[in-house]
Amino acid sequence: MADADIGLIGLAVMGRNLVLNMADNGYRVAIYNRTYARTTSLLNDAGPLADRLIGCESLDQLAAAIRPPRPVALMIKAGEAVDQQVAALRPLLSGGDIIMDCGNANYHDTVRRFAELQPTGLVYMGTGVSGGEEGARYGPAIMAGGTREGYGRVEDILTSISAKYEGESCAGFMGTDGAGHFVKTIHNGIEYADMQMIAEIYMIMRHALGLSPAEMGDIFERWNKGPLESYLIEITGKILKTADPDTGKPMVDVILDRAGQKGTGRWAAIEALDLGIPATTLEGAVAARALSAFKDQRLAAEKLYPLDLDRPEINDRDAAIAGLERALLAGKICAYAQGFAIMAASSERAGWNLPLNQVARVWRAGCIIRSRFLNVISAAYDANPDVTNLLVEPGFVAMMSDSQKDLRSVVSLAAESGLPIPSLSSALAYFDAYRTGRLPADLIQAQRDFFGAHGFERTDRDGGGFHGPWAMG
Ligand code: 6PG
Repeated sequence: MADADIGLIGLAVMGRNLVLNMADNGYRVAIYNRTYARTTSLLNDAGPLADRLIGCESLDQLAAAIRPPRPVALMIKAGEAVDQQVAALRPLLSGGDIIMDCGNANYHDTVRRFAELQPTGLVYMGTGVSGGEEGARYGPAIMAGGTREGYGRVEDILTSISAKYEGESCAGFMGTDGAGHFVKTIHNGIEYADMQMIAEIYMIMRHALGLSPAEMGDIFERWNKGPLESYLIEITGKILKTADPDTGKPMVDVILDRAGQKGTGRWAAIEALDLGIPATTLEGAVAARALSAFKDQRLAAEKLYPLDLDRPEINDRDAAIAGLERALLAGKICAYAQGFAIMAASSERAGWNLPLNQVARVWRAGCIIRSRFLNVISAAYDANPDVTNLLVEPGFVAMMSDSQKDLRSVVSLAAESGLPIPSLSSALAYFDAYRTGRLPADLIQAQRDFFGAHGFERTDRDGGGFHGPWAMG
């Protein structure tokens, strides 16, 4: 009997947890996995929730088990597997049914799949889901794309299973075709920058201030009660206070310093470059992960360039720690200003009309970058939907004016100590360039004109295409 509210394909940990979350919220879910053993294992582990699950051994069974118009969620590996799955589902579904890709797809693929399915009457909804395993189980942030009508058909399910911020659901419709996956990509780009800047502060605490992991853990715990309050600060505090059960050493000390990446941060940086939007904190974070992977080269280079710097003395440790907190806030403001600028530019290019105030709202709970700070961003977009750059919005001007000096001190302390902080230092460079009325781009223009007759505009006349009196040769 076709009485399931939704189908879900892909029962690895994220899919499994989403299914349990849906069932918890009273929905009947038809479930399918390529290997049936995963389906039975979920049915066995679901306890009383198993009554709301329909285990399917084939896609035909899955399609037959869902009440039309049928929403089918995919929680499978991004890439070719999604195309194969869509191709297999296509003949089994009919007009009005929805395929909702909940993985971390490249939004360009989502745009293509949306267009390919449009003539069939099927609605393709690229839907970003953030919050890791725990979020999937108890409430993720959900960034849906596709069509508004399609969203209307799954809205109840998505808002029920999503995280709630003071009672408000953290699920929302971002726009047509690839908008949902695009917003998720920028979420991840910001996530990379946020994580990298926290890691840079940790490096300074450790090597310039000589703090132990446990001491740093206490500081992050304290910071989590202030303006930096966020999931990433919270888990950083917990991580730093965790000992390795095997050796008793701080856990971070036994973890190899080689960061992984699956691609979404890089996609965000590529998007920024493609749009001509400066996003240096995100790019710095992607590059930092890439550089971390060259472990052997770094170890060899360390021998060639041993640090024989006179490290600056820090006389007042508490004041230095308070400065680090404000510097991190200043860096974070720049990262979010960049991330939101990418979204504004992409929205205009794609004609998405992204609801940026709602993006900030959806991110306030459930997702990896959830934080108190996002309230200030949503308020800024509520007050002015046409924000040029968050750096010039009143709330941010006040915060940045308070904290920029500390970012400056931290960047110079790191430079003098030989500590690499690519995201924080590029945040400062971005801020300084953004607040400088006249940049040395006059010289760049002159150089371009000198070697390539590219022409320039003048400060004292209208129009362009002027040339300098350069002597050739
Ligand atoms: C989230 C996370 C999630 C995942 C990333 C990690 O929002 O829940 O961003 O999507 O953890 O894929 O990406 P990397 O492996 O690139 O760090």
